[in-house]
Parts: sequence; C-alpha cells; structure tokens
Amino acid sequence: MITFILFIIHIILLAALIYIWTLIIRLIINPHFRECPPFIPSFGKQKKFILARMKDEIEKKGGNISILDPGCGIATLLISLAKKYPDCNFVGIEWRKITAKIAQLRTHNLKNVKIVCQDFFDYPFNDFQIIVCFLMQPIMQELGEKIKNECQSGTIVISNTFYFPQIKPDELIKINGLYKFNDVYIYKF
Ligand SMILES: C[S@@+](CC[C@H](N)C(=O)[O-])C[C@H]1O[C@@H](n2cnc3c(N)ncnc32)[C@H](O)[C@@H]1O
Repeated sequence: MITFILFIIHIILLAALIYIWTLIIRLIINPHFRECPPFIPSFGKQKKFILARMKDEIEKKGGNISILDPGCGIATLLISLAKKYPDCNFVGIEWRKITAKIAQLRTHNLKNVKIVCQDFFDYPFNDFQIIVCFLMQPIMQELGEKIKNECQSGTIVISNTFYFPQIKPDELIKINGLYKFNDVYIYKF
C-alpha cells in the first residue's frame, strides 16, 4: 500500500515538474505568453454591469448573434452570459490547457458555448458581433489592431478594466468599487 501511495506521489510530482517546464519554455519562446494576464475571473460590479449592458447591445444587433470572450479563463463570465442570453452563441478562447479543460467541463451542458484551447491571436475574429474581454494592458494595443483588421464594422467591444491605447472609447463607464478594476470601456469598431 505504502509503495503504491509513493508511486502516485511520484507521478503527481513528475506531472507538476513537466507542467512547470512547459510554462518556462513558453515564457522563453512566446512573447504573448510573457505578457500573459493573471487568472482572475470577472467579478463584482463590473461583471454585473457587463451582464446587464449586454442586453441592450444584443437587442440592438437583433438577438441570436455570436459573442467572443478572448481569454475566457474558466468561463466564469461566459457561463453567466450564456445562461442569461440562451439565443446567442458564445465562444471562449483560452490557451492554458488546464484552465480550458475546466472551462469545457463547466460549460459541457450549455449548448450555446464552445471553448477553444489556443492562442486567441491565432483565431479569426470575423464571425463575432460582440467581443467581451478582461485581459491585461500590455496586450491591448495588439488586440485592438486585430479587431480593427478582422471584425465587421459595427462590432462592439466591452472591455473590463483595460483599454485600447490607440482608440478612443465610445463610452467609459466608471464603476465605484473597492478594487483597482474600476472602469469598463465600450468601443464600436
Ligand atoms: C483575467 S482572465 C479573464 C477570464 C474571463 N474572461 C472572465 O472575464 O471571467 C484572462 C485569461 O486570458 C487568458 N489568456 C491571456 N492571453 C491569452 C491568449 N493570447 N490566448 C488565449 N488565452 C489567453 C489567460 O490564460 C487568462 O485565463
């Protein structure tokens, strides 16, 4: 029995080591990964605001549209959105395998959610009418360029906390909260 437990502990430690090495190698070879946002799901007043605001934006676009969360984490925001707006289709992209797996497990019974495990900079954005994101400042400029180049005109972006430095937002919503994540930026491309 003790041998078996030791064997399992060794396997877990080996898996952890392989995971850490993979992270280190990605940090060295992938510049996007170096600026990788920390894993924090949307929460609090910002999440509440985004959920409510989506109603207007979806209605303006006639309902039944495709919505993207690039960097969906464990799909916290996507799950709330998909339940509230069952007629829309949601895609979440998450490059961390374990995080994406958790997102897939959490959304497996939601028919209107698809989770893709890859770098969102390599995924085409042209099919989405609304993009909702909560990322990190260093990657926002490049994300803004990608959206400008790939999305149809009229695409709406709702960004929690972080802004496109090269584009003036159509609306800046100040949300009084206890945290440093206090603004929501809305852009019409
Ligand atoms: C702050 S979390 C946001 C979670 C979710 N959008 C929400 O609002 O609850 C950001 C996530 O983006 C992921 N991410 C960052 N850069 C990415 C990239 N280039 N491709 C795919 N996922 C990325 C991170 O791994 C992290 O899980």
